[in-house]
Amino acid sequence: MSQTEDHDSERRDFLYYAAAGAGAVTVGAAVWPLVNQMNPSADVRALSSIRVDTSGIAPGTQVTVKWLGKPVFIRRRTESEIEEARAVDLSELPDQDARNENIGPAPAADENRAMDESGEWLVMMGVCTHLGCVPLGNGAGDFHGWFCPCHGSHYDSSGRIRKGPAPENLPVPVAVFEDESTIKLG
Ligand code: FES
Repeated sequence: MSQTEDHDSERRDFLYYAAAGAGAVTVGAAVWPLVNQMNPSADVRALSSIRVDTSGIAPGTQVTVKWLGKPVFIRRRTESEIEEARAVDLSELPDQDARNENIGPAPAADENRAMDESGEWLVMMGVCTHLGCVPLGNGAGDFHGWFCPCHGSHYDSSGRIRKGPAPENLPVPVAVFEDESTIKLG
């Protein structure tokens, strides 16, 4: 194989991976085998932005996808989870900032963390702000949100820290609804 052919075939491989990485990531994350085929730089480039199909996520459940090497929780909240999150007196919150990359510094109101006005969709990094464990979800902990068993941090149904050593709310990454059922991360 000539040098030119060699170069071309490498380039085709890269384009193939990049295109695959930018396509829909199915719920449940079939992304793992793909990641394993890629070298680190192609991996990072292809996954700097991913799309998640949310149509299979029922109210009261969540999925975890891996994005840039970290877990991201995508939760479709019930009415009662939203009500509980919105009824909180903000002065009780240990971290007063919404920690939402989409809006910058803002009060930690649930309205400043949820993706949509109704509050049905909550997307945040699944990494405890204490020392980086992955918190347990589905209403876990004293505040019906997430609980990190590593050192006992309790997050509420908006992902805000309420009790324990974690200093900050779970961060909301750059995310947008591209259409009715597709969330784009990054
Ligand atoms: S890492 Fe979560 S409480 Fe310490």
